Amino acid sequence: MNDFELTDGELILRPFKLEYAEAHLAGDDAENVHWLSGGVSTIETVRNWIIRNQQAWEEGGPVYSFAIFDAKTGQQVGMIDGNANPAQVEGLEEGDINISYNIYPSARGKGYATRAVNLIQPFFKEKGYKTAIIRVHPDNAKSLGVAERANFTRVSETVNRSEGTLIKFKKLISLE
Ligand SMILES: CC(C)(COP(=O)(O)OP(=O)(O)OC[C@H]1O[C@@H](n2cnc3c(N)ncnc32)[C@H](O)[C@@H]1OP(=O)(O)O)[C@@H](O)C(=O)NCCC(=O)NCCS
Repeated sequence: MNDFELTDGELILRPFKLEYAEAHLAGDDAENVHWLSGGVSTIETVRNWIIRNQQAWEEGGPVYSFAIFDAKTGQQVGMIDGNANPAQVEGLEEGDINISYNIYPSARGKGYATRAVNLIQPFFKEKGYKTAIIRVHPDNAKSLGVAERANFTRVSETVNRSEGTLIKFKKLISLE
């Protein structure tokens, strides 16, 4: 089930495996803690996160997490996932899947996040999802840029969560 990859020739997305844990930990930084993870990681927390994600892969979703690799150098450069569990993502509607991402500090500013967001969408369409969602804190300029470059539409609605208000972007991935 999780032994496949998605590629556009520049990036490769592979379902997260334990062997990716150390590079993932090394790529953690204050920006990722502040905007995404909410806490400093250790090798144990990363491994436990991967184990939970592998379980989701085995169950067929509704969480799909991928490690991102540069296709040319083979370097692991980040994480992207889709989460369609309404218990974990506030404001999800039927057919929605929420996309989150993190690019490791040394690999930022090269277009990898935008490319990964584009690359993952056909996979979600194949899985039957209709709308991709990205939710971003209004002060997270770098991530707002990703949603805009990936041609998501900013919807007027915002989502209130414990950490504040997030701007919601969406993109239709299936007309069915
Ligand atoms: C948000 C985050 C993933 C954005 O990463 P990023 O590398 O800036 O995003 P992109 O991959 O879209 O790259 C865009 C940048 O690369 C530049 N770039 C260089 N080559 C490029 C190319 N071939 N194609 C597109 N952009 C390119 C763009 O000009 C842009 O630079 P700018 O920010 O100076 O304008 C990153 O800052 C991060 O991991 N933050 C912490 C976690 C986080 O906030 N996650 C999102 C929570 S909602």
